[in-house]
Amino acid sequence: MTSKVETLSPAQYLMQLEDHYGAHNYHPLPVVLSRGEGVFLYDIDGKQYFDFLSAYSAVNQGHCHPHITQALISQAQTLTLTSRAFYNDQLGAYEEYVTRYFGYDKVLPMNTGVEAVETAIKLCRKWAYTNKGVATNQAKIIFATGNFHGRTIAAISASGDPSSTKDFGPFVPGYQVVPYDDLDSLEEALGQPNVAGFIVEPIQGEAGVIVPADNYLSKAYDLCQKHQVLFVADEVQTGIARTGKLICCEHSHVRPDILILGKALSGGVLPVSAVLADDQIMLTIKPGEHGSTFGGNPLACAVATAALQVVKDERLSENADKLGQIFRSEMEKLTGEGSLVSKVRGKGLLNAIEIDDSPESTTAWDLCLALKDEGLLAKPTHGNIIRFAPPLVITKDQLDTCCEIISHAINNF
Ligand SMILES: Cc1ncc(COP(=O)(O)O)c(C=O)c1O
Repeated sequence: MTSKVETLSPAQYLMQLEDHYGAHNYHPLPVVLSRGEGVFLYDIDGKQYFDFLSAYSAVNQGHCHPHITQALISQAQTLTLTSRAFYNDQLGAYEEYVTRYFGYDKVLPMNTGVEAVETAIKLCRKWAYTNKGVATNQAKIIFATGNFHGRTIAAISASGDPSSTKDFGPFVPGYQVVPYDDLDSLEEALGQPNVAGFIVEPIQGEAGVIVPADNYLSKAYDLCQKHQVLFVADEVQTGIARTGKLICCEHSHVRPDILILGKALSGGVLPVSAVLADDQIMLTIKPGEHGSTFGGNPLACAVATAALQVVKDERLSENADKLGQIFRSEMEKLTGEGSLVSKVRGKGLLNAIEIDDSPESTTAWDLCLALKDEGLLAKPTHGNIIRFAPPLVITKDQLDTCCEIISHAINNF
């Protein structure tokens, strides 16, 4: 990679390095970032951008939040990893903090979101065999169409998206996928024998910020109760204040039997995920039956505690709720006859606009390039949908500026 250096700009060189030495499993927007602070990202030339992706809702607390960074630094200088072979002086305090924070008896700490999903799947199965009396290896898990639970084999086995599944089979057995936001199909599936759990995103982020009917989650929860099936909420993307409540299920007054969290649990500083449940579910897993070298490491515990404290101290749920309403009403002004924007949807600061063009078109991508030029970073999902999810520390003035940028880019497209 040295021979061409002189002919490329520094940004082009760095993009080419990734392209040359890295696997081609992503298609990034052409911008090379080197610094972040609050709602802002900066490229290697020092240009400032509003971050409207927040690392897929991981950076809810804003980039390089001083309290979280400080927790990281001081714990990194003290003790980072012991493995779970021994006790450490951070884990218990974090476990007490996080379980009280979300109101569960127990937490099982993991690292990435998909690991927490895998953990929840195992927990459902274990509970079904030990508590529900399901016969060995017969447990069934129900998922919803349009789901995104991550990229491992267990997660993609539930996916209907060919770009997630094509040429990656064979898949995990014992799954059934029912239409999202369809209570009749769900009830039919839950009524079968051997069903252990129903795993659902309260809003489907990756599918394009798909918001189900107001009564969907509460009715789905009731159906799960009726059929003695665990209701599992994958709040990896929707949780931690993103939708204007601490967890999205709160909008529906639902307390999931199993709650899956990740991403913003660390403020985007480290991979930290968690599965929360009460004793009768969590204690079905015994020592040696599940774990992870890094899960619950002291560094992660210190960082996650600080990250959750920031969410409370800075009232990020309230901010997301208030500014989300303003954002959607501003975006609604861009819809209408002949407009490029056909739909606006979302909750809190997890929102999307749908571009009036086919998912195969490059319109949404090109619009994101135009937004980048105007100083705002967002990314299309599923071709013609653009998700807008800024850090939740964004102020009203900053949001107003962003709405102007988006309106200007769309009106001049
Ligand atoms: C709802 C949901 N679940 C799970 C995951 C997987 O998380 P991770 O990429 O940290 O494995 C994601 C990632 O976007 C997600 O949105």
